[in-house]
Amino acid sequence: MYKIVEKRELAPTVKLMKILSPEIAKKVQAGQFIIIRTDSKGERIPLTVADFDREEGTITIIFQEVGYSTKQLGNYNVGDEVLDFVGPLGQATEIEDYGTVLCVGGGVGVAPVLPIAKALKEAGNNVISIIGARCQDLLILEDEMREASTELHITTDDGSCNYGMKGFVTDKIKEILDDPSNDVKHIWAIGPVIMMKFCASLTKKYEVPTTVSMNPIMVDGTGMCGACRVAVGDKTKFACVDGPEFDGHQIDWDLAMRRMNIFVEKERLITERNAKGGNL
Ligand code: NAD
Ligand code: FES
Repeated sequence: MYKIVEKRELAPTVKLMKILSPEIAKKVQAGQFIIIRTDSKGERIPLTVADFDREEGTITIIFQEVGYSTKQLGNYNVGDEVLDFVGPLGQATEIEDYGTVLCVGGGVGVAPVLPIAKALKEAGNNVISIIGARCQDLLILEDEMREASTELHITTDDGSCNYGMKGFVTDKIKEILDDPSNDVKHIWAIGPVIMMKFCASLTKKYEVPTTVSMNPIMVDGTGMCGACRVAVGDKTKFACVDGPEFDGHQIDWDLAMRRMNIFVEKERLITERNAKGGNL
C-alpha cells in the first residue's frame, strides 16, 4: 500500500498528491509516468510524474478530475493509502545541454513540463518557459515553473492574468521564435492534444525540433490494450512503451485525435453507470 502524505487543490478540479514510494523516487526521471489504482475495483490511471524527492522518497502527481476514477482518487486524503502505484514507466526525456530551450505547458499539462524544465536547467540550458490556461484561476505551478526557468511567460485565453498575455500558448511561442536573438534549439510542448497539434504545426514552420507527450491517449499504460498506438513518421509506436514523448513534427495528429475520441463515449457511460449505483 502507498500512503498519501500531501494533498492540495491547485485549481478547481485539479489536485496535487504526494505519495510515499521510495523505490520509484530512487529511479524516476523527468518524462516518465506511473500507474495508480486506488483499490481492487479501481481503474488503472497512467499519470506523468510531476515531481519527485529522492530523499523524502515521494512522488508528486497532479491530476484533473475528469472521469469516474480520477474523481474517486480525488476523494482520497492525507493518510489514506492506494492499492497500486507502479513505475517508473516509459522512456525518460532526452536531457542534454541544447543551449536555449522552450518549455511550454498548457492547462494541466504544466505538471509534466515542470520536471523537464528543472532537469534542462540543471543540465545548463537557458530555459524559457510558457504556461497557459483558459483563465488565471486555472493556472497551476506558476511559482515552481518560475524557479525552474530562466524566463517565464504566462498566457490566458481570456486575458484575466493582468501580468500575462491574452491568447493561446501558440501566440507566445510565435512571438519568441520571431525574435532571432532567442535562438531556440529545442521545444517541449505538453498539454491537451489539440494544443500539442497546433504547437507542432507552428514550430515546424520555424524548423525547431519539438517534443510532445502523448500521455492523454494512454488507457491501461501496459503495452497490452493497444489504445495508445500512435503513427510517428512511417512507424507505429505505443505511447506507454515507446513514449510518452515523441517528435511532434512526425505525429499523425488526426489519427491520434480520432483514437482518443473513441474513449470519450466509454468514459461517459462508466460515469453514468456509477452515478446510478453500478447498473446502467
Ligand atoms: P485547456 O483546454 O484549458 O488548454 C490549456 C491551454 O492550451 C490553453 O490555455 C491554450 O493556451 C492552449 N490551447 C488549447 N487549445 C489550443 C489550440 N487549439 N491552439 C493553441 N493552443 C491551445 O487545458 P486543460 O483543460 O487544462 O487540459 C486538459 C487536457 O490536458 C486533458 O485533455 C489532458 O489529457 C491533457 N493533459 C495532457 C498531459 C500530457 O502529458 N500531454 C498531461 C496532463 C494533462
Ligand atoms: Fe494500453 Fe499503451 S496504454 S497499450
